[in-house]
Amino acid sequence: MTEAMGAEFDTVAEWTAQVAADLGPDYHIPAGCRGSGSPAALDWLIEQLRLTSEDSLLDCGAGVGGPAAYAAHAVSLAPVLVEPEAGACRAARRLFGFPVVQALGSALPLADACVDAAWSLGVLCTTPHQLELLTEMRRTVRAPGRIALLAFVAREPLLTKQPEGNHFPTREHLIELIADAGLAIQKWRSTADLPAIPREWTDRVDAVDAALADRHGTSRAWELAEKQSKRIADLLGEGEVTGEMLVLRHG
Ligand SMILES: C[S@@+](CC[C@H](N)C(=O)[O-])C[C@H]1O[C@@H](n2cnc3c(N)ncnc32)[C@H](O)[C@@H]1O
Repeated sequence: MTEAMGAEFDTVAEWTAQVAADLGPDYHIPAGCRGSGSPAALDWLIEQLRLTSEDSLLDCGAGVGGPAAYAAHAVSLAPVLVEPEAGACRAARRLFGFPVVQALGSALPLADACVDAAWSLGVLCTTPHQLELLTEMRRTVRAPGRIALLAFVAREPLLTKQPEGNHFPTREHLIELIADAGLAIQKWRSTADLPAIPREWTDRVDAVDAALADRHGTSRAWELAEKQSKRIADLLGEGEVTGEMLVLRHG
């Protein structure tokens, strides 16, 4: 993990939980989803995975836990969070009280076929161990293998434009990785096709961002994390990278 990623996924994750706790419960889920998820994306994934209150859901690379909390709130299910960064684990426990296992998605300390469904949102491009992560998700989700990804995909190999520590797969490479992990693609939808994010949600995220900048704007961790997010936002804005949601099953 690079210093910028450590700043974003560890230090800023913990600061985010502090800010959200101070702002109040309405801010917890939007703050916890700063990493990637939007309500429309999460609604689509919950529907496609047919999640119900009977299901256990593994969130692999859960960050601050917003997406898992969104699903728990939407369908009253019990999520299991796995996240390698200690600051993010503490943030998710503090904001949502979920069980969080500190581990890498590429070496899940979980038994075979122990959960009904799993998702990994905005995580694949942050690790070089992409095949291992997908293989571990396949191993831990029981048949038929209800698995979903939100993946940031490069239009073409990014070479020098890749922000440090990121590994955006191309569409072709992602398809190959999925097949190599023993998984099959059931549905594919670009985040660009989703309805707009509700104003109330963006206002809450903006309030969290403003409070974070206010409290920590002069720190190196904030500066590094902001630079990293801006580079990724620029790549998304230029269409060099796109957000793709995939629903998978055991192949
Ligand atoms: C962009 S954030 C997304 C967080 C969360 N999934 C969300 O959508 O809000 C990426 C997360 O992946 C985690 N991560 C990085 N490498 C990982 C790995 N090998 N296995 C599992 N998680 C990883 C990071 O610590 C970070 O919390």
